[in-house]
Amino acid sequence: MDLSTTYLGMRLPHPLIVGSGPLADDLDTVRALEDAGAAMLVLRSLYEEEITGEQMEAFFNAESHSESFPEAESYAPEPERAFGPDEYLEHLRLIKEAVRIPVVASLNGATSGGWHSYARMLEQAGADALEIQIYHAASDMTSSAADVERQAIHVVREVKRSVRIPVAVKLAPLLTAFAHFAKTLDSAGADGLVLFTRFHHVDIDVDELEVSHLRTVLRDVESWMNEHEWISLSEMRGNMSLERIPDPAAYERTNFRMALR
Ligand SMILES: Cc1cc2nc3c(=O)[nH]c(=O)nc-3n(C[C@H](O)[C@H](O)[C@H](O)COP(=O)(O)O)c2cc1C
Repeated sequence: MDLSTTYLGMRLPHPLIVGSGPLADDLDTVRALEDAGAAMLVLRSLYEEEITGEQMEAFFNAESHSESFPEAESYAPEPERAFGPDEYLEHLRLIKEAVRIPVVASLNGATSGGWHSYARMLEQAGADALEIQIYHAASDMTSSAADVERQAIHVVREVKRSVRIPVAVKLAPLLTAFAHFAKTLDSAGADGLVLFTRFHHVDIDVDELEVSHLRTVLRDVESWMNEHEWISLSEMRGNMSLERIPDPAAYERTNFRMALR
């Protein structure tokens, strides 16, 4: 059986790669993924906001007297940051030392600016390729879909000019004219298209106008358990496990037959 293929000009033993996300945050997990046969690894995205945030931080640290107003920090609590740009570069270097499979860095941004220089730094840190995550929440009413696409194409051109390694573009799942956009990205120099990212949906409580739904879920779980006369999670846990079924073989066979119907 020959499952080998090529992606971004690289020969891979098979097409199973680890997509962009937090799985590559931990070096032991990265090694385990390679041992398990992953053909390639894509790091989580380095966000444009992280890059500009660090630049702004450096600017304000140099230019302002924020230290004389320690309480000012509480006005704008810093969001949790997975990897700042420097940590990201260092992490990439460590991963490159730890594994032999190709490692792809991911940049998330849709505006032009200083971050094309980060593309170069990621290349220098050893990235075998770059994935550009061009997701852009187009909330500006004066900006058209064509404007958003043009901006994305501009970013791709800019990054392609900055690096020699292959550049893939990760696309949103909902595009009005996918074929046209894909062709334009190709013409702009994209070496691959990643289909597709999946958005995480936010639940909004329309009565309370709150984003968090945790309490409701907890309350519903408790009332469901009451209704079904469960008294604890430990009592529920494993209740449908095969081990607790008198004839596991018959159960499996029934499931198999149902699945084939
Ligand atoms: C927890 C989590 C974090 C992710 N982080 C990123 C990210 O940083 N950059 C990115 O381009 N995609 C990210 N993704 C998207 C995945 O790479 C992938 O495109 C998406 O999950 C769709 O694939 P799936 O349908 O197999 O889950 C993330 C997904 C998950 C579940």
